[in-house]
Amino acid sequence: METKAKDVGILAVDIYFPPTCVQQAELEAYDGASKGKYAIGLGQDCLAFCTELEDVISMSLTVVTSLLEKYQIDPKMIGRLEVGTETVIDKSKSIKTWLMQIFEEHGNTDIEGVDSTNACYGGTAALFNCVNWVESNSWDGRYGLVVCTDSAVYAEGPARPTGGAAAIAMLIGPHAPIAFESKYRGTHMSHVYDFYKPNLASEYPVVDGKLSQTCYLMALDSCYKRFCAKYEKFEGKQFSISDADYFVFHSPYNKLVQKSFARLYFNDFMRNSSSVDKEAREKLEPFSSLSGNESYQSRDLEKVSQQVAKNLYDEKVQPATLVPKQVGNMYTASLYAAFASVLHDKHSTLVGQRIVMFSYGSGLSSSMFSLRIQDGQHPFSLSNIDNVMNVSGKLEARHVFPPEKFVETMKVMEHRYGAKDFVTAKDTSLLSPGTFYLTQVDSMYRRFYSRKGLNEKSSAVANGTLANGH
Ligand SMILES: CC(C)(COP(=O)(O)OP(=O)(O)OC[C@H]1O[C@@H](n2cnc3c(N)ncnc32)[C@H](O)[C@@H]1OP(=O)(O)O)[C@@H](O)C(=O)NCCC(=O)NCCS
Repeated sequence: METKAKDVGILAVDIYFPPTCVQQAELEAYDGASKGKYAIGLGQDCLAFCTELEDVISMSLTVVTSLLEKYQIDPKMIGRLEVGTETVIDKSKSIKTWLMQIFEEHGNTDIEGVDSTNACYGGTAALFNCVNWVESNSWDGRYGLVVCTDSAVYAEGPARPTGGAAAIAMLIGPHAPIAFESKYRGTHMSHVYDFYKPNLASEYPVVDGKLSQTCYLMALDSCYKRFCAKYEKFEGKQFSISDADYFVFHSPYNKLVQKSFARLYFNDFMRNSSSVDKEAREKLEPFSSLSGNESYQSRDLEKVSQQVAKNLYDEKVQPATLVPKQVGNMYTASLYAAFASVLHDKHSTLVGQRIVMFSYGSGLSSSMFSLRIQDGQHPFSLSNIDNVMNVSGKLEARHVFPPEKFVETMKVMEHRYGAKDFVTAKDTSLLSPGTFYLTQVDSMYRRFYSRKGLNEKSSAVANGTLANGH
């Protein structure tokens, strides 16, 4: 008799973000925004960006190679590879096919999966596909590999400080330390024009920022209700915030994450849950008769619910905010970079705990799902995952550029987007050893990459400073 794979989930994680970044406090001064608007108003510390050497393909080559090497995974053992991205380069040609180079070298071309695209949700679609595959009859016993890779860039204006860039790779299989509670999933999908990329000549999206905030919160409410209903159906008891140890949100910018958790708390209040104490109940009571639409527009509700949820936010959400605050929005990688922050900060105390994840992609697609943490066997132990990711080391080794240099880089990248027949400067001094980088795009738009040697050192340059010393 066939046995189904048990405890399917994430066995291993690695993360990559560019070594080049700009401080939000400096950017807001440069942009002429009021002091504190980006750093406090949006809640962001720093924004990572790709220079002409890096893009979503190079970042994904870097992170996949690094994961396979550091966890010593035989490339022949990958049976499914799924990429989540919303950064379009070759349009019909998937980034997955780029990554096949790594596996072809080892004689493995028997790998299912292509790219999934819907704004910041593509990574979650890719992850669900891989988990479902391992749980299905089609599974052949090998690992799944999920890659989320994006460069989030905006035209000059209010959305620009909500950019960022990163790639994450996650190895999927049974007996995982980070196991899916597959029965508890709530999804909400709908048609809306809150953020989209209709201009194929530009990397920048068309974005209705205010609408996207409301859509995000409405999707969150809907997913939470469905998630709770599923939990209640299977467990026979009400779900509330107290049933999870951490809540991890897709993070376009930190302020929206603060608002989102407050919204879950308000949901618990409306559902008369025991997670809301008497004092908070009294403070939220005046808002109990608001209609759904009124509640999204009420600034007072936003303020009061954030205030009463503050202690729980510090406990259950704050550990997930380090990388998103330091790197910015990473689109498909954002949610998983937030998750990586929890693994980094709390890996020694996570066993037995539940983490609830909320994924949102404009347009719109959204899901809430649950992960259960258990002990993993080396190399898939939580402490080894933290070691491999080396989040603090990577953050500290970054180079802070002045805003002028960031804006100049954005201009170069605007010209390079969709261009052909150029070579890059190939100055890899800022890249860490083992990083892939773009060398050339030829007359047929074919791209060429190299890898910086593992023994080559990285160094600072004249117009950048080490983040460590900043
Ligand atoms: C998010 C976005 C709409 C904000 O742009 P904006 O309209 O210029 O910004 P706001 O005027 O609303 O200011 C942002 C926040 O900073 C606060 N703020 C403004 N100036 C401030 C200052 N000097 N000090 C402290 N806070 C300040 C505002 O009060 C606001 O906070 P609030 O939402 O709690 O009220 C814009 O960055 C955007 O479009 N981003 C891309 C879309 C996106 O990420 N959407 C998320 C869903 S996927």
